[in-house]
Amino acid sequence: AIVRHYKFNVVTKNATRLCSTKPIVTINGKFPGPTIYAREDDNVLIKVVNHVKYNVSIHWHGVKQLRTGWADGPAYITQCPIQPGQAYVYNFTLTGQRGTLWWHAHILWLRATVHGALVILPKLGVPYPFPKPHTEQVIVLGEWWKSDTEAIINEALKSGLAPNISDAHTINGLPGPGQGCGSQDGFSLEVQPKKTYLLRIINAALNEELFFKIANHQLTVVEVDATYVKPFKTDTIVIAPGQTTNVLLETKQKLGNYLIAASPFMDVPIIVDNKTAIATLHYSNTLGSTITSLTSLPPKNATPIANTFTDSLRSLNSKKYPANVPLKIDHKLLFTVSLGINPCPTCVNNSRVVADFNNVTFVMPKTALLQAHFFKIKGVFSDDFPGNPPVVYNFTGTQLTNFGTTKGTRLYRLAYNSTVELVLQDTGMITPENHPIHLHGFNFFVVGSGKGNFDSKNDVKKFNLVDPVERNTVGVPAGGWTAIRFRADNPGVWFMHCHLEIHTTWGLKMAFVVDNGKGPNESLLPPPSDLPKC
Ligand code: C2O
Repeated sequence: AIVRHYKFNVVTKNATRLCSTKPIVTINGKFPGPTIYAREDDNVLIKVVNHVKYNVSIHWHGVKQLRTGWADGPAYITQCPIQPGQAYVYNFTLTGQRGTLWWHAHILWLRATVHGALVILPKLGVPYPFPKPHTEQVIVLGEWWKSDTEAIINEALKSGLAPNISDAHTINGLPGPGQGCGSQDGFSLEVQPKKTYLLRIINAALNEELFFKIANHQLTVVEVDATYVKPFKTDTIVIAPGQTTNVLLETKQKLGNYLIAASPFMDVPIIVDNKTAIATLHYSNTLGSTITSLTSLPPKNATPIANTFTDSLRSLNSKKYPANVPLKIDHKLLFTVSLGINPCPTCVNNSRVVADFNNVTFVMPKTALLQAHFFKIKGVFSDDFPGNPPVVYNFTGTQLTNFGTTKGTRLYRLAYNSTVELVLQDTGMITPENHPIHLHGFNFFVVGSGKGNFDSKNDVKKFNLVDPVERNTVGVPAGGWTAIRFRADNPGVWFMHCHLEIHTTWGLKMAFVVDNGKGPNESLLPPPSDLPKC
């Protein structure tokens, strides 16, 4: 293992998309931002220098941050933001992790343009558990707004209404042709025939799950969220914001240009979004520019296609990469996941949309929670987050009468090394929606999921405790539930939230506090001296 140094300058840069130009916040002037390369067990130091007018913090999505919660990044959870003119060095070790992860700003809506890939190669000399690819390619899926994203979210918060949806989807920063502005060039992936390529696909979009497809080519899924899976073939992948998926692409054609598309998936399409990002797979030596298009694009509400994909995901669970699913459970938790409506006298309809776990709309503190925990600062948070729904829920497919939520900065406390089973139940208070829930500080096993109400007697019997997929972000199906298990072996304060940015903004977030253990390597390390102050 070695030490790797990176420098991230947060700078404003003009960017032109959809025939209009606007200044965007970037890292080193790039959109998507620079890729970080490292190997398993390397120590990575990234100096972030803030040259813009906004407060900034960067999260290394999926990095476990064993005992180094100070480097996790969510603003006001593990650190105060880096203020304009200030700098902070994120210092962490990629212990036992390899695969595709990513990084993004973790404050307000800055991650719209501040994000990039984090590629962790296996240790030197350790092969992939699949055929060695000829070469590798990072594919970042994103969204583009013509107007300023910070202005959009501030306006939405003021009015209490939903924000505008994006104007385009992007593949490696480019919308490609057909999204409302002439024929703009899209991203082109150059390949040679009869080779295997590893695509590292990241969904960095703010608010939308996506289908990803390449005309006339099958994909073999080999990894999700930086954990190896049992390889399977598919022509469509489904990827939620926050998730990463590695696929092998075999170039079985000889020549030609083939369409690559990323289009929205919405279980219940409540908003109109028909934007499809377009790129091309270009075989070298192809002279013409004719593009073979897709025979079909999945419709927005193609839930069966999405389900087939997620149901196919299994941990590799080999001798070398075993799935260590916790079998004895210390904390059995059930959180409802929903949107609600709270009164708001200054809002447009005298009400605002809120979101919650267990009817608690999370309130962001003014002091970072990890500091409050470490230095025992009173009055910043309470540790009484309800482990079960405080009000009766019954998902019936129709709206409930109880839309109300309470507000609080409430955390759930876990003893070091205790085991957790968490059922996430969508209760669709306004309308059922998919929620990609992301947990910081841990990977978890997805042991089950289903439609309707979770049945604690019978559904438990059907849990997969052998080779469930291990990941850091999982979709809770519309009008259904997902059950996860993890071991709380990482002391600190760990954020959990919906990775649809609008739902996080509305309060669909909470945090776990994990106490120190007794052993010498079971405590949170002290904060670095340059940790930003609030
Ligand atoms: Cu990728 Cu808390 O986020």
